[in-house]
Amino acid sequence: MKHHAALVLFLLAASATYGPRLSKSSVNGDDALMKEVIQNGLVKMPGWKYTLKDSDISDIIAYVRTLPEPPPPTAKPGGAAE
Ligand code: HEM
Repeated sequence: MKHHAALVLFLLAASATYGPRLSKSSVNGDDALMKEVIQNGLVKMPGWKYTLKDSDISDIIAYVRTLPEPPPPTAKPGGAAE
C-alpha cells in the first residue's frame, strides 16, 4: 500500500472512532492551527509530532480540506435531538 493511502486510512479510522468529524471547515479553516493541533494534540487528543513527519501532516491537512462539511444533525424520530 502506498504510504499516502495508509495515512488516509489511519486518519479515517482515528476520526471515525474518537474525535469530531473533520471537514474543510474544521478549526475555522485555519491550516496553521490544524497543524498545531495534529502535532501537539488537544484536551483528549494525543499529539503526533513524534509519529508523523511534517510532510505527512501537510498531506493530512490537504486531505481534510477536501472533505465536505457534515450536514446538520437531524432529530431522531419520536425523540429529542442529540
Ligand atoms: C492523525 C490523526 C488525527 C488527526 C489529523 C486529528 C485531527 C484533529 C483536529 C483537527 C481536531 C480539532 C477539530 C476541531 O476543533 O474542529 C481534533 C480534535 C479531537 N481529536 Fe483528533 N485527530 C487525529 C487523531 C485522533 C485520535 C487517535 C484521537 C483519540 C485517541 C483523537 C481525538 C480527538 C478528540 C477527542 C478531539 C476533540 C478535542 C479534544 O477534546 O481533544 N484524534 N482532531
